[in-house]
Amino acid sequence: MDFAHRKLSARYPTDLVAWRALKKHYSDSMRTKDLVSLFARDKERADRFTLTAGDLTLDYSKNHVNATTRKLLVRLAKEAQVPAAIEAMFTGEKINVTEDRSVLHAALRAKMSDKVALDVDGVLEVWETLNNIEDFVERVQAKKIRGHTGKRFTDVVNIGIGGSDLGPVMAARALRPYWHEKMRFHSVSNIDGTQFADLTQELSAESTLFVVCSKTFTTIETMTNANAARAWVADHLGHAAVGDHFVAASTNHEAMDEFGIRPEFRFGFWDWVGGRYSLWSAVGLSLALVVGMDTFRRLLNGGRVMDLHFRNSPLDENMPVLMALIAIWYNNFFGAGSQAILPYDNRLDRFPAYLQQLQMESNGKRVRTDGKPVKCDTGMVIWGEAGNNAQHSFYQLLHQGTRLIPIDFIAPVRSSGASQEQQDLALAQCLAQSEALMDGFDEEGLEPHRVHEGNNPSSTILFPELTPEALGQLIALYEHKVFVEGVIWGIDSFDQWGVELGKKLATRLVEPVAKGAGYKGKNASTAALVAKVGKLR
Ligand code: F6P
Repeated sequence: MDFAHRKLSARYPTDLVAWRALKKHYSDSMRTKDLVSLFARDKERADRFTLTAGDLTLDYSKNHVNATTRKLLVRLAKEAQVPAAIEAMFTGEKINVTEDRSVLHAALRAKMSDKVALDVDGVLEVWETLNNIEDFVERVQAKKIRGHTGKRFTDVVNIGIGGSDLGPVMAARALRPYWHEKMRFHSVSNIDGTQFADLTQELSAESTLFVVCSKTFTTIETMTNANAARAWVADHLGHAAVGDHFVAASTNHEAMDEFGIRPEFRFGFWDWVGGRYSLWSAVGLSLALVVGMDTFRRLLNGGRVMDLHFRNSPLDENMPVLMALIAIWYNNFFGAGSQAILPYDNRLDRFPAYLQQLQMESNGKRVRTDGKPVKCDTGMVIWGEAGNNAQHSFYQLLHQGTRLIPIDFIAPVRSSGASQEQQDLALAQCLAQSEALMDGFDEEGLEPHRVHEGNNPSSTILFPELTPEALGQLIALYEHKVFVEGVIWGIDSFDQWGVELGKKLATRLVEPVAKGAGYKGKNASTAALVAKVGKLR
């Protein structure tokens, strides 16, 4: 029987031998051990708990983990059949069981010789699609494809939401030094219309290319914004211009027909690419248009480097696996409910938001793949902010608050295209914070409010520079981390049924909200709010 459909009832993680051993290890030993003493006991600790993969170095020595913890966590991964699950993903098994789909974002960045699920429908089309994207990107950049009035495109607007927005937006910001000198990237995602209204103040319709990005091409936010953009183009340049100013990335060809996307301006992908895993597909088109295809391919290659590491490294030297295990250790044994992501490079300022969807939409689940309820907590709340801004905002709580919040510090060593002196200052802040959080501060007679108890755990991910390759590795690292967590919990990390109900209710509320009356919902509160909207309008 294949991995996805194997009987799971025996595999509640809480029933595994390793889980029980970890529980005992926690209460007998690690619960009360402080981080400083772990370092005092082992002079080699910093080395022993540091790992490299591609350009990334992960120092996880400032975590409540010793050699026994690591051994037991790795045993947990083995007992939960993580190696079989990894192979199941790369060979195209339908591990997204509730949607009966393979999960093959890794195929989007693989070389054919990697043999990632070549027998799955669509996989052999990946390289041709990439060539089509490349051809389009190059023709736009070379001014061979122009706007309706003959002007070159200088502004690319990504219209999408969720995975069809966060990936391109995060990566476009991260790769700012790689932008074509004559091109700018913009995005519109929220439905309320303000983003688009503000954007039109700085755009000229003649030189703007809209990329409508939607796997389903039915998402209300995206279609509302796409329709607004279409009306704006028609208003400024006439209806005939629409076909010249819109391209799309989607799996829904019928809907693209209806919208009026020209066949040669469509870029497809496949149902085995999940929305939050889709940056590597045609969803990356707006990014590729601005940074160019060489840079986009370098990003893909970075993802591939992490895929090879993930697929081929032993569990105890496998970066995504270890990060997942450490997260589970805090989540399920220490009871930590959230994790902070703190990048020390402003170009990564949307990375925490990107990871929120990746991790919380993937692992915010309460039933297992066999339909039974989980017996332990699953996905943690993920939050964060660019490091220095965060220091002057919520670090107080990290240093002296009451909650255990494991942290991932993320920092490039060299500045990409800005002042190295300033990046060194950022790095010094980053390292100082992780040290202060761990070491704390106390001395005889110090008033209580000045005491830093310390013992706060963190991991630090360093890399030479925020290149497209490093970014690709970083994204794929977290993708695989999320997958491993899901395998251990026995949940489907690739569906998102929890977002459907809200969407349905919103449809029912559209008319009553417009009228400010007439909502007969299940509760008096919503009806009263609708009436209040009517009065306030
Ligand atoms: O509502 C959640 C979601 O389905 C995400 O999973 C997805 O990334 C987003 O909406 C956008 O979906 P689409 O690309 O189909 O417009």
